Amino acid sequence: MSKKNNTTTTIVKLYTLQEVSSHSSENDCWTAIDGKIYDITTVIPLHPAGKDKIMRGCGVDATNTFNRVGAHDIEKLKQNFVGNLK
Ligand code: HEM
Repeated sequence: MSKKNNTTTTIVKLYTLQEVSSHSSENDCWTAIDGKIYDITTVIPLHPAGKDKIMRGCGVDATNTFNRVGAHDIEKLKQNFVGNLK
């Protein structure tokens, strides 16, 4: 019996924190959390605790800021993933 090879290769882009820092505005906001980078521009107006609070993460590594809020669920940002931190 032969087995089908269902292996899928996903190319994940790598970005430096310096590249992340060039996306630090309300209209273009990337954030790094636990080594992964998310484009959270569209999430800003939806943030339950207000846009100023989520915007603290724009252009920076927001791992600590994000993880210390119990209500946060990284799964919700899956569709905003853009790459890994170099
Ligand atoms: C799917 C995306 C997100 C959802 C659904 C979400 C949801 C929430 C909720 C419900 C709270 C209120 C928690 C409470 O009052 O106990 C909160 C607080 C907060 N969020 Fe988010 N959040 C998201 C993404 C982010 C991101 C990416 C950041 C980046 C820094 C962030 C920064 C904050 C901060 C700083 C607070 C603290 C508010 C405070 O201290 O009063 N959030 N968030």
